[in-house]
Order: sequence, then C-alpha cells, then structure tokens
Amino acid sequence: MRAVVVTEPGGPEVLTVRDLPDPEPGPGEVVLDVAGTAVNRADLLQRQGHYPPPPGASDVLGLECSGTVAAVGEGVERWQVGDEVCALLAGGGYASKVAVPAGQLMPVPEGLDLVSAAALPEVACTVWSNVFMVAGLRADETLLVHGGAGGIGTHAIQVAHALGATVLTTAGSAEKLELCRSLGADVAIGYREQDFVEEVRRATDGRGVDVILDNMGAKYLDRNIDALALEGRLVIIGMQGGAKAELDISTLLRKRAAVIATTLRSRPTEEKAAICAAVVEHVWPLVADGAVRPIVHTTLPLDRVGEAHALMADSGHSGKIVLTPAS
Ligand SMILES: NC(=O)c1ccc[n+]([C@@H]2O[C@H](COP(=O)([O-])OP(=O)(O)OC[C@H]3O[C@@H](n4cnc5c(N)ncnc54)[C@H](OP(=O)(O)O)[C@@H]3O)[C@@H](O)[C@H]2O)c1
Repeated sequence: MRAVVVTEPGGPEVLTVRDLPDPEPGPGEVVLDVAGTAVNRADLLQRQGHYPPPPGASDVLGLECSGTVAAVGEGVERWQVGDEVCALLAGGGYASKVAVPAGQLMPVPEGLDLVSAAALPEVACTVWSNVFMVAGLRADETLLVHGGAGGIGTHAIQVAHALGATVLTTAGSAEKLELCRSLGADVAIGYREQDFVEEVRRATDGRGVDVILDNMGAKYLDRNIDALALEGRLVIIGMQGGAKAELDISTLLRKRAAVIATTLRSRPTEEKAAICAAVVEHVWPLVADGAVRPIVHTTLPLDRVGEAHALMADSGHSGKIVLTPAS
C-alpha cells in the first residue's frame, strides 16, 4: 500500500509517501481500500513527535477515513467485501489501505459521496459523544461552540441547530463568522475583537449558556466558567490555549456547574463502537435529510499531505481538509 511516513519528528516537510506492506485483517477487523481520509489537529502533534499512537495502533497518521471493504477477518459478520463505509480509526488513515475494528465502521450516510464521507467520522463521534452523550444538551438549551468554523465547530453548529438548540459560536474572521451563521449559529462572536463572555450574557439575558464545547483549554477556563448558566456543563476537548490553569471552585459551586474533559482516540474499542452506533442512529438521519453536511474546505491527493498540514497549522481552512490516496 501507499502510506504517509513521518521520517523524523518535524514540520510538514517530514511527511513522505512510501510503499508499505498491506495490512491483514485480524480477528474482528476489516481491511478497507481507502477512498478518502481527513486531517486532524492531533495528526500535526503526532508528526511533531508530541502525540504517540495508543498501544497497538498503526504509527501511520490518520484518525478517520472512508472506503470500500476489501477483506474481512474472522468473526466479522456485519460487513462484506464491497461495502462502502466510513470509519473512526486509532491511526493508519493516511494510506491506501487500513485495518479497522469492525465496530468502528459506519455505513456511508444516505445520499453522500464516498470521498466526502471521510470528513465525518471524527467530528461526528467527537461532537455526539461530548455534546450529547456526556453533556446531555437538550433542544430547549443553549450551546456555545468555540472555533465554529473549524472541522468540529462546523459539525457541532449544524447538529445542535438541527436538534433545536440555540447555538452561539466564536470564530476568527468575518468570513468565518458568516459561514457559522449560514450553518445555523444564532449568535456568532469574533474572538479577536469581542469579549465572548459579554456577548454570551447579552444574548442570553444574563443567564449564560447551558453547554460549552471548548477547544482552547487553559486560556479560556475562567471565561468559560463565567459564561456558563446555572447547572451548565463545560466540555473541554482541546488544549490549543494550553493545558494548565487555575480553577475557581467557588464559581463552580455557586453555579452547580461541571467541567469535563475527554479524548476519543484512547478510548477502548468497545466504547468507540458504542459511539459509532449512536452516531449512525442519531446523526446519519440528519445527514440523509440534508440538515447536516460535511463542510470540506479542500480535497488534495495524498502526495500533497504537507500542504494540507501547513494549511491547518495556519488555520487557513474552514471545516475539513480531505486527502485522497488514489489520486
Ligand atoms: N478530545 C477529542 O477527542 C478531540 C477530537 C477531535 C478534535 N479535538 C480537538 O478539537 C479542536 C478542534 O479540532 P478541529 O478538527 O475542528 O480543528 P480545526 O479545524 O483546526 O479548528 C480549530 C479551531 O480553533 C479555532 N481557534 C483558534 N484560536 C481560537 C481562539 N482564541 N478562540 C476560539 N477559537 C479559536 C479556529 O478558529 P478560526 O479558524 O476561526 O480562527 C478553528 O475553528 C482541536 O483542538 C482538536 O485537537 C479533540
């Protein structure tokens, strides 16, 4: 197979496409011919040597893909050779073939083309597991999504809006704020020039938001807690603003609020399979009826993976960046 290899930790220039042995399906696994994969911020960290793959995972980058089932391992009954699917991966997506535990496969949502389906597994599983399974966002509640124009953000806005919640979001430019509004954000806040806590208070008559999906971590911890309503839930999924901060517990007590942080990649296979099943049940129908669509900034051949990483590092994109091994 063709796969992206990190020759040594470093910048986008260390990413090289090489021939590697094809993966074989182990018991309970499926091998896919990859049609598309997508870039995640974790891939940039792994390339730099800061985010090693979990034990047993491929050291090829790539946390999601779409493709066609090429082989099934012992004990796999649900999938057959030729099925078109997308998959949540612990690694290995930046390649023309990948082995995946069968529970992490999902059918391609009805009406969606195979390559675009590569842009969905990571955002759909992250948003559904955090905003809905963990934070329990309800239709009569408000959600603040930081980084609304990113991969996670564009998906979170659409799903929460489709399910009836009021959505507030932050983004870094007028064009990105406009994209967020077009996806269903009720309030779009420019994080460079506006104070998001003030804007949240203004938009909620001082009440605050019920749930926050946060990618910034330490830098926003205080302000996020200030922006929470009574019994609000802050779910932290990223550390783009650092990992260590002081927490004012008295505000949390007063608000009876919760701070939760999770990561998807290191979860056991069974938990990932349960999340994938919930996504297929709850999110795929929204994609099929057109309420939610993958927002793909650009699709590049696998050989241009370095360019894709540089684009994400500069936040030059909106939504997802897809790579295609076959072109
Ligand atoms: N824990 C997990 O399981 C998990 C899973 C997937 C992703 N993540 C994390 O989730 C985060 C988003 O991932 P992604 O794939 O959506 O990446 P992405 O497409 O690169 O989006 C990053 C976002 O960060 C925003 N941003 C930068 N500085 C900001 C600031 N000061 N305030 C508010 N937003 C700011 C960017 O906004 P502009 O472009 O508008 O400037 C952009 O929307 C990453 O940190 C990623 O590592 C975690």
